Amino acid sequence: MKRILSTLLFLLSFSVNASSSGIELEEADIDLSDTVSLERGAKHYVTYCLGCHSAKHIRYKRIALDLHLDEGEILKNVAPLGAGIYDQMHSAMNGHDAEKWFGTTPPDLSLIARSRGADWLYTYLKGFYAEPGKPTGVNNTVFKDVAMPNVLWQQQGTQVAVIKNIDGHDVVTELKLEQPGQLSPREFDRMVNDLVNFLVYVGEPVQLERQQMGKYALFFILMFIVLAYLLKKEYWKDIH
Ligand code: HEC
Repeated sequence: MKRILSTLLFLLSFSVNASSSGIELEEADIDLSDTVSLERGAKHYVTYCLGCHSAKHIRYKRIALDLHLDEGEILKNVAPLGAGIYDQMHSAMNGHDAEKWFGTTPPDLSLIARSRGADWLYTYLKGFYAEPGKPTGVNNTVFKDVAMPNVLWQQQGTQVAVIKNIDGHDVVTELKLEQPGQLSPREFDRMVNDLVNFLVYVGEPVQLERQQMGKYALFFILMFIVLAYLLKKEYWKDIH
């Protein structure tokens, strides 16, 4: 028993160590019932991400159903020009071009929120900073030497890293906004949060349904309690 416990503790200390870096993950504010945020996220996804990343597990039809939008609206406001309502979120980029340009293929992001977690995604999308030696001109606090350019730089502006030497390693301790973008930092946070909210939804669209089902179930249970109470009163009326 003792041995098992100490092994567990050892593994635990290991995982804590592994996640220690100069920058802590920032917390994303995930709310799958906020369909307005999800719609904004979907729109941003199509505008800024779909050029390189598919999200093949979801169809526009499904998004329309889940976000209570009609099909015309989703095709006009969210889907790229020419997409059909039954289409999956396909990227126009092919793997061959991607290899040539980035040295790697941008992954499908259908399940990325499940593998990386919402907070990681939030921190990642906000974590690009200027590093002139890089092919894309940027590096990232949570994904070192990432091949993806900072696609939201116009909205965010340019960040630079404050680097400190800790125990012989250069560690990014902080990011500073050197040149403001089109959005204020608060607006940009909201934009990124909407994107991450959308990616969490895409990772498990049934979550929305499940939450809805939960509400119905609670409603029926409450109704049943009231009914049972009234019945009880009715039965015991003459006995009291
Ligand atoms: C110009 C092409 C391009 C665009 C546009 C783009 N990305 Fe990427 N992205 C890449 C490439 C290439 C990689 C692979 C990076 C690597 O492996 O070094 C990547 C990697 C990622 C990863 C990390 C995946 C992993 O392995 O964990 C995430 C998350 C991501 N992108 C999200 C986004 C989001 C969200 C958007 C839209 C705001 C976006 N990307 C727009 C090219 C792009």
